[in-house]
Amino acid sequence: MSKKLIIANWKMSPSTYAKAETLFLATLAAARKLSRVETVVCPPFPWLTDISHKYKKSISFGAQDVFWEEGGAYTGEVSPTMLKGSGVKYVIIGHSERRLYLQETDEMINKKMLAALRAGLVPILCVGEWTRKGRPWKWIKNFVRKQLAEDLRGIAKIAGGSQKIVVAYEPVWAISTFGGGPDKPEDSLKIIKFIKGILDSRFQIPDSKVIYGGSVNAKNAVDFLKYPDVEGALVGGASLRAGEFGKILSEANLINAKPSL
Ligand code: 13P
Repeated sequence: MSKKLIIANWKMSPSTYAKAETLFLATLAAARKLSRVETVVCPPFPWLTDISHKYKKSISFGAQDVFWEEGGAYTGEVSPTMLKGSGVKYVIIGHSERRLYLQETDEMINKKMLAALRAGLVPILCVGEWTRKGRPWKWIKNFVRKQLAEDLRGIAKIAGGSQKIVVAYEPVWAISTFGGGPDKPEDSLKIIKFIKGILDSRFQIPDSKVIYGGSVNAKNAVDFLKYPDVEGALVGGASLRAGEFGKILSEANLINAKPSL
């Protein structure tokens, strides 16, 4: 059974390097004990480069964004090769907070996906509907299908077909800061299976993982991760509490030791 992928998205926290390093070291201590989980830490850019240089190879690192050009006059942007050179393996692309606050479009997200893959990064593409209120499943599936079609356009041609990607199904309303509470595990499982079907049939991506994000915490992680099709979790708020994140990691490690459902 492959390792569950548990990703800490620290978003724009903690506020100082000292706090970030303390959180990182506590996370690392919990992650190091576990052999059946891949832990990925995604700090904000300034802490990411400092920590990834200092603690090279101790854990997988991810960036929270990337630009699609390799260099030039793009004030404020960071290229895929810069990330790769800083020891970064993963990059979150198309997070709903960037779609919302930075007006990132599917076209921009697609360019970022292609650039990340070309540089040998593993993109973590975030998809998910804004609301479910009054919407039939058909609407939700169409929403996610359209995001995948636009965000993944042309990726089959990259890297000779050997690309790796992660898709995070993150219903926007379920993100803790939006206040909706976590999705019902069986409902997200339904969409995750739907996403896997699209990845297999339409994009033939040889190496992909589909994970869940949205108000994952130490109490509910097992309810999602117990399904073999839910191959990991993208964790926001709870990843800032090292003790709680450590519990999520050990739950994931335990589940993976059990035979498939
Ligand atoms: P929460 O875990 O705080 O709901 O955040 C989810 C998220 O946006 C991770 O990318």
